[in-house]
Amino acid sequence: MRILVTGGAGFIGANFVHTTHETMPDADIVVLDKLTYAGNPKSIEGLDRVQLVAGDIADADAVDPLVADADLVINFAAESHNDNSLADPSPFVRTNVEGTFTLLEAVRRHGTRFHHISTDEVYGDLALDEPRRFQPGDPYKPSSPYSSTKAASDMLVRAWVRSYGIEATISNCSNNYGPYQHIEKFIPRTITNLIDGVRPRLYGTGENVRDWIHVRDHNTAVWAIIDKGRIGETYLIGADGEKNNLDVTKAILEAFGRDPEDFDLVADRPGHDRRYAIDNTKLVEETGWQPEFTDFAAGLADTIAWYRDNEDWWRPAKEAVEAKYAQTGQ
Ligand code: NAD
Ligand code: DAU
Repeated sequence: MRILVTGGAGFIGANFVHTTHETMPDADIVVLDKLTYAGNPKSIEGLDRVQLVAGDIADADAVDPLVADADLVINFAAESHNDNSLADPSPFVRTNVEGTFTLLEAVRRHGTRFHHISTDEVYGDLALDEPRRFQPGDPYKPSSPYSSTKAASDMLVRAWVRSYGIEATISNCSNNYGPYQHIEKFIPRTITNLIDGVRPRLYGTGENVRDWIHVRDHNTAVWAIIDKGRIGETYLIGADGEKNNLDVTKAILEAFGRDPEDFDLVADRPGHDRRYAIDNTKLVEETGWQPEFTDFAAGLADTIAWYRDNEDWWRPAKEAVEAKYAQTGQ
């Protein structure tokens, strides 16, 4: 089997390449990645049967021959950070919307099976106190330039299934954590700040809730959908991991042996979504998928150990990331 993984040098894509390489010894994996600031070839180096092609998913000439040669395309490539989308939305439109369009046209030409990786943020947010969680059929109500471009990409996939009959599925997952995550994101930023002796920064009051899932569980769910999901369907991926940012910060501080109150409240994110929460019933009932990393404290401890052991991977980016946050008082 020949698998094209777009965005495979990024956080979730790189983890997907590693687990697929381990579990599918007969698979050849081609990674198409633009190697933006978020893509790191080191994340997937040294793996036989894995070929990295530097290129843009919005470049039809780069995409077409790779899709023509593939049995399956999985699209992880995206501009993925909300804060960056507020500062400059243009690469989000180009990659998330035009890039997905370009991939869809290629899979339409070549009749290739396609799986699109998306986010729970397309559904907007929930109130902190409402019992409801996101359902696959909920209306799309994205809040940020990032989530609106992901919503647009999902709409394109749905339309290409209905109008052109392409064989595609979509998954919308909640917040991931684990190794190889860029240090602009909340958990690795907090961990690497603490390694540097810097107090964590919490946006607003810290009461916003995210539904945390280990990246390896996200990726086993993606394979479950590819293997057992129904064409044209959307599946929500989540592992019952709701926590507010304050509690996550305190848990990381405690893992470092620090006072759990040793953080700073900083300027809030404009339009900051209050709460995400996933109802994964459809995924579980149709595919039998179950998460493996259900102990958040243990997953966090492993993730902290990974950042301690792999400083050469993240250190080169740290100064520039913090300089950018300093500009917004965060
Ligand atoms: P990431 O930012 O870590 O990685 C994105 C990768 O895409 C990078 O390697 C980057 O170089 C590459 N890329 C960017 N533009 C490209 C282009 N035009 N052509 C080819 N490659 C390009 O992102 P991530 O956190 O790994 O997210 C992967 C996917 O999962 C995204 O679609 C994101 O929306 C979705 N998602 C992420 C999370 C999360 O918690 N991180 C949760 C749910 C869904
Ligand atoms: O829900 C899935 C989404 O999760 C994905 O689609 C996105 O690609 C991914 O980046 C993530 O989005 P968030 O905006 O939720 O993640 P982020 O790590 O940026 O922030 C998590 C929460 O922590 C959010 O409420 C903002 C807050 N935060 C973030 C940073 C960087 C802080 O309080 N302090 C920080 O320093």
